[in-house]
Amino acid sequence: MIIEAKNIRKSFGSVEVLKGVDFEVSRGEIVAVMGASGAGKSTLLQILGTLLTPDSGSLLIDGTSVLSLGAGDLSAFRNRRIGFVFQAHHLLPEFSARENVMIPLLIGGEKEAGARARADELLELVGLGARLAHKPSELSGGEQQRVAIARALSMNPAILFADEPTGNLDSRTKEEIHALLLSVRKQLGQTMVIVTHDAGLAQLCDRTCVLRDGEFR
Ligand SMILES: Nc1ncnc2c1ncn2[C@@H]1O[C@H](COP(=O)(O)OP(=O)(O)O)[C@@H](O)[C@H]1O
Ligand SMILES: [Mg+2]
Repeated sequence: MIIEAKNIRKSFGSVEVLKGVDFEVSRGEIVAVMGASGAGKSTLLQILGTLLTPDSGSLLIDGTSVLSLGAGDLSAFRNRRIGFVFQAHHLLPEFSARENVMIPLLIGGEKEAGARARADELLELVGLGARLAHKPSELSGGEQQRVAIARALSMNPAILFADEPTGNLDSRTKEEIHALLLSVRKQLGQTMVIVTHDAGLAQLCDRTCVLRDGEFR
C-alpha cells in the first residue's frame, strides 16, 4: 500500500469533520473521493498530503510514518514525495510554463540544465510542448491546468493529490484533462487520489470512496 491511513480524526473547534477515516491506496491506483460540499474531502486530502496534521490516527505514506516527522523532515518529504493539483492552478504569473515547472526542481537542488530538460519533457507529456515560453496569462484555462499537472509531477511524486482539478473548466476542457490524468497514469504508473464532484471522472478512476458523516461509507 502506498497510502495506509487508519482512524484519522480531525475537528475544527467543536466541529468534528473526520470521525475515524480508514483509507488505503495501492501503488499505481487512481482513487476518486466524492461527497457533499463540506463533507471534509479537502481536509482529508490535506492530511494525506501532509499539509495538515490530524488530531489522531496513523498515516503511512510510501512507507514513511509521516505523523512522526518533525517540521523540516516533513516539508522535505512533501517536496520530494507529494504532488498537488488544486482547482485554481496557482501558477506564478511572471514566469513561463517551463519556469513554473522548473521551480520545484530548482528548490529541490536540481541544476538549471537538468531542471529545464525535465520541465520540457513533462510539458511535452501534458501536450504543451509548443507552449514552453508562454506565461500563464497567455494560456487557456485547460492549458494552465496542464502546466499545474506538469509542475505537480516534476519531482516524480509517490502520489499526486488533486482537489477538484477540473472544477473550474468547461465540459469539453474537463474531459480533455480527465483523459490527460488517465494518460499520465498509463505512461508513468502514477498513483493518484482525486477529489471530484464529476461522475464522469469518478467513473474513469479505479474506485470511488464517498465521504459521509465524517467517514467513508
Ligand atoms: N481551517 C479550518 N478552520 C475551521 N473550519 C474548517 C477549516 N477547514 C475546513 N473547515 C470546515 O470543515 C468542514 C469540511 O471542509 P472541507 O474539508 O473543505 O470540505 P469539502 O472539501 O468536502 O467541501 C467544513 O464545515 C469547513 O467549514
Ligand atoms: Mg473541498
